[in-house]
Amino acid sequence: MPFAHITGWGMSVPEPVLTNEDIAKIVDTNDEWIRERTGIRERRIARETEFPSTLGVEASLKALEVANLAPKDIELVICTSSSPEYIFPATACVIQDEIGASKAGAFDLLAACTGFIYATNMAAQAIRSGSIKNALVVGTETLSRFVNWKDRSTCILFGDGAGAFVLQASEKPGGVISSVMHSDGSGANSLILPAGGARLPATEATVHEGKHYIHMDGKEVFRFATRVMGQATREALDLAGLTTDDVQWIIPHQANYRIIATAAKYLKMPLDKFVINVDRYGNTSTASIPIAAIEAFQKGQIKNGDKVVFVGFGAGLTWGALVAEWTGPLAVARKPVHPERYRFFARIRSWARRIGRIIEGLFARKEL
Ligand SMILES: CC(C)(COP(=O)(O)OP(=O)(O)OC[C@H]1O[C@@H](n2cnc3c(N)ncnc32)[C@H](O)[C@@H]1OP(=O)(O)O)[C@@H](O)C(=O)NCCC(=O)NCCS
Repeated sequence: MPFAHITGWGMSVPEPVLTNEDIAKIVDTNDEWIRERTGIRERRIARETEFPSTLGVEASLKALEVANLAPKDIELVICTSSSPEYIFPATACVIQDEIGASKAGAFDLLAACTGFIYATNMAAQAIRSGSIKNALVVGTETLSRFVNWKDRSTCILFGDGAGAFVLQASEKPGGVISSVMHSDGSGANSLILPAGGARLPATEATVHEGKHYIHMDGKEVFRFATRVMGQATREALDLAGLTTDDVQWIIPHQANYRIIATAAKYLKMPLDKFVINVDRYGNTSTASIPIAAIEAFQKGQIKNGDKVVFVGFGAGLTWGALVAEWTGPLAVARKPVHPERYRFFARIRSWARRIGRIIEGLFARKEL
């Protein structure tokens, strides 16, 4: 059975920074309160021209470059987002088209902030089953579009960004070792975007009542998160036959510093084994785990051969953990690929296909 290695990684965050002081000009809050209760100092907010797909494309191209893999060799694109571009089509298809992953199947996976763990696990399972060799997993968010900027209990928390992993098959041991996924839909209402779906389609009333924004019972989510983070980490480690002593880094979902600190206490692990960057990005939902992992690798914290645990929780309710050995790009002799260059050809191919469909439509009409 092949192993599923994480061989490429890339992140993209919007440039505009929104500090706690900036938010204090919009709602009744202050920097001290936000830092004490959440650990967040600032977050990135997408410009009008930035979407989950544009951030996701940037992150994906960087990941492909690290893996030295051409987009046409990707067989599966899984995009996970709590703020997808549309209800349909899938944001994964928009990304697949933009990067020129012309041979890939593409779908979106919705498990809120746990999405990146679910998606990485699904991609790894597809590789381990032998049905595919190369997959791209993208977590991407512009949640700022769904934040109620009049609600001080939620607008302080979220930020925008994207992270992507390339997963590849190899006979060499390593990569994704174990994973656990959990859900409890009885807690659906504690973190929800109520309208815009089939139950409450958009109407003047839903807009007026603010039902297209994030609604959250912060205390309930906090209690749930502190309970499940440590438990899921233990479970995934047990499944891998490892203990916390075997692990170099825990990469938790970046929602709140206090939640991470409580998980560290539960696991009896020093907090400096936890990658934390919630102070600079806030909660970027599905993107938070890859962004934290990539920054830790770039800073030289995570090294090849390290065992890491990704652990997260989110709306659903969902939670899960994944244990992996960080092995780096596969050692395959190949000319360097420059995925950014493929983007140009991907655009041409995309437009040619659109024109092709128009011509096909004209002929089809004549035949009728
Ligand atoms: C949201 C969160 C930071 C609130 O912290 P908290 O300690 O639970 O605060 P509370 O909601 O009990 O509010 C305490 C007080 O602060 C006030 N408050 C809430 N937000 C505030 C803000 N941004 N600035 C100042 N005061 C604020 C409340 O109105 C309340 O005032 P009151 O006592 O006069 O009624 C915390 O509950 C949390 O992080 N929950 C988890 C959320 C999460 O991670 N969501 C994403 C999951 S993926």
